[in-house]
Amino acid sequence: MSDNEVLTPAIRALLKSKNPMILTGAGISAESGIPTFRGKDGYWRNHDPLTLATPEAFAKDSRTVWEWYNYRKEIITSKQPNAGHFAIVKLKELLPDLTVITQNVDGLHQRAGLIELYEMHGNIFKMKCLSCNTISINSETTLESLFCPECGSNRVRPNVVWFGESIPGEIINSILDTVRNADLIMTIGTSGTVYPAAGFAIEVRRREGVVIDINPDANSAFSNDILIREPAGLALPRLVEQFSALR
Ligand SMILES: NC(=O)c1ccc[n+]([C@@H]2O[C@H](COP(=O)([O-])OP(=O)(O)OC[C@H]3O[C@@H](n4cnc5c(N)ncnc54)[C@H](O)[C@@H]3O)[C@@H](O)[C@H]2O)c1
Ligand SMILES: [Zn+2]
Repeated sequence: MSDNEVLTPAIRALLKSKNPMILTGAGISAESGIPTFRGKDGYWRNHDPLTLATPEAFAKDSRTVWEWYNYRKEIITSKQPNAGHFAIVKLKELLPDLTVITQNVDGLHQRAGLIELYEMHGNIFKMKCLSCNTISINSETTLESLFCPECGSNRVRPNVVWFGESIPGEIINSILDTVRNADLIMTIGTSGTVYPAAGFAIEVRRREGVVIDINPDANSAFSNDILIREPAGLALPRLVEQFSALR
């Protein structure tokens, strides 16, 4: 298919939209070299990420879970945002009413220069104290030096939302407001299987809004209006460049 056949419907819809939103998942960071959980590089020391990223795994063996998080932090620190992240920054400049929500915990959107962002699953570079609930920056990579800066407790956990946990109330409420008002959602690099995020596109569609999905793999969870079956780092810069020329 030509560029026009693939991108024009998405650009037309964006031009018409009054309340657009973007939801990104692990796929947008794949081209930066950060593994997705379900991709072939998701496993670590024979552990399945879908079982490690759980409160049960942390309760049973917090050391292993922390070692996995420290390993992922080191990978993320050594990687850079890609053309997809930068294209979203440009789109936000062109469309100030655009709301960007990410399921990612890697901070790459911010490193690309995005200032306003909802991180619905937290951030891997923060930790939460289980004794006093303080959330603090976590730049340590050794387990022995992990202490709460507020109370000194070593009962700390990554400040991320694990499978089976709910998203903190104040964040989910703002996000659900955005979803209820959105007339267009662009889902980028998300498998559409992790709730509540998987329900966002369904909700926008229910109100006859537009759904644009950017993902190189067919995605059975969505039956979207506009499907761009390409890697985000290839599709997004062209989409944003052509949008910018037409508006
Ligand atoms: N980078 C990160 O921060 C990171 C990485 C892995 C997992 N996670 C966490 O795990 C959860 C897993 O859910 P998920 O649905 O986001 O991820 P997922 O791993 O379930 O799915 C990733 C999706 O990205 C697609 N994809 C792969 N390469 C792509 C590319 N170049 N461009 C566009 N799409 C591409 C895949 O086809 C897949 O559908 C997330 O909610 C997140 O909290 C975060
Ligand atoms: Zn504390």
